Amino acid sequence: MSQRIAVIPGDGIGAEVTDAARAVLDAVCRRHGIDLDYDEYDWSCDRYLREGTMMPTDGLAVLRPYDAILLGAVGAPGVPDHVSLWGLLIPIRRAFRQYVNLRPVRVFDGVDSPVRDARPGEVDLVVVRENVEGEYSEIGGRFDRGHPEEMAVQESVFTRAGVSRIADYAFELARTRRRHVTSATKSNGIVHTMPFWDEVVAERAAAFTDVRWRGEHIDALAAKFVLQPGSFDVVVASNLFGDILSDLAAAVAGSIGIAPSGNLDPTRTYPSMFEPVHGSAPDIAGTGVANPVGAVWSAAMMLDHLGHGAAARDVLGAIEATLREPGTRTRDLGGTAGTREVTAALVDRLDG
Ligand code: NAD
Ligand code: IPM
Ligand code: MN
Repeated sequence: MSQRIAVIPGDGIGAEVTDAARAVLDAVCRRHGIDLDYDEYDWSCDRYLREGTMMPTDGLAVLRPYDAILLGAVGAPGVPDHVSLWGLLIPIRRAFRQYVNLRPVRVFDGVDSPVRDARPGEVDLVVVRENVEGEYSEIGGRFDRGHPEEMAVQESVFTRAGVSRIADYAFELARTRRRHVTSATKSNGIVHTMPFWDEVVAERAAAFTDVRWRGEHIDALAAKFVLQPGSFDVVVASNLFGDILSDLAAAVAGSIGIAPSGNLDPTRTYPSMFEPVHGSAPDIAGTGVANPVGAVWSAAMMLDHLGHGAAARDVLGAIEATLREPGTRTRDLGGTAGTREVTAALVDRLDG
């Protein structure tokens, strides 16, 4: 029986890297006899400019029956980012209770890190980002617009259930890895929410006595990501901290163009969504130089989620082999290949 995938290419390089991911999926599915059935939706800033909304009013109901969602990226000059993102990406994460944003980071063979001590094989970490609450809340507003006393207020929301489940996910994941969790905090400065975060994480940690853990203030943690990236295994963080840490870690591993993510509903009540960590990159859109690896690795995470572990491992193997070759690395990695060449190389390896 086939599994159904909703594809939302989105804007800018989102569409370019999604095409690459689709080509790689086609190749690996041929090889493994996997039957995926795709429907593509043109929900994007173009649609917004044409019709006034990023997705149709019943968009979430349309996505609900799918087994997974594959997203490129959204955001384009001409549409304010808070409009495009709160019109598509964030509602999907929230409505489908995708409370885990899983963001693995590795330094691959052949990829030069800008960081001296980040050699291939030595950095292998995963950011477990809380994805539906925290700093990304709808509570607040803009007041007294145009007056000298004008202000903007946004409340952070941390719930016991929300912090517990993301901590549990991180500790359980650590059990399958090197059994170490770092919790990003700022309990010295953010006086209400972060001490609460620490308290709940510590409570959950007590149920995982086989996993070592420590809390680290986000400022010091950011420095350590650069200075000792190899010392991390699982890093659990709130929504905003996890967002920033994941781009930082991806840059340490060579480029944000290779970083993947899974927005997961671990209860599998709703479809999970897979997308590269990067955005629509208007500065390089249309030039054919976008690195497709982040989107392709995200597609591998989707395969794994759908129960096709062997196919996912093959895709990762193809990524490793392709990055090892100087001729099939994109410009962000110091190479000269375009999206098309890298994609063709990945497809060739999977077809061979
Ligand atoms: P970005 O990730 O789009 O780009 C940051 C820099 O990294 C740019 O210089 C870009 O050229 C480069 N880059 C990104 N992906 C690359 C790739 N695959 N290959 C080579 N280089 C790559 O971040 P931004 O500039 O802050 O945002 C641009 C737009 O994307 C905004 O509208 C933003 O809101 C949106 N955005 C969307 C998502 C999403 O849909 N999930 C994520 C992040 C940003
Ligand atoms: C990401 C992006 C989004 C986020 C933006 C575009 C809203 O940066 O997926 O990392 O902050 O979650
Ligand atoms: Mn981000």
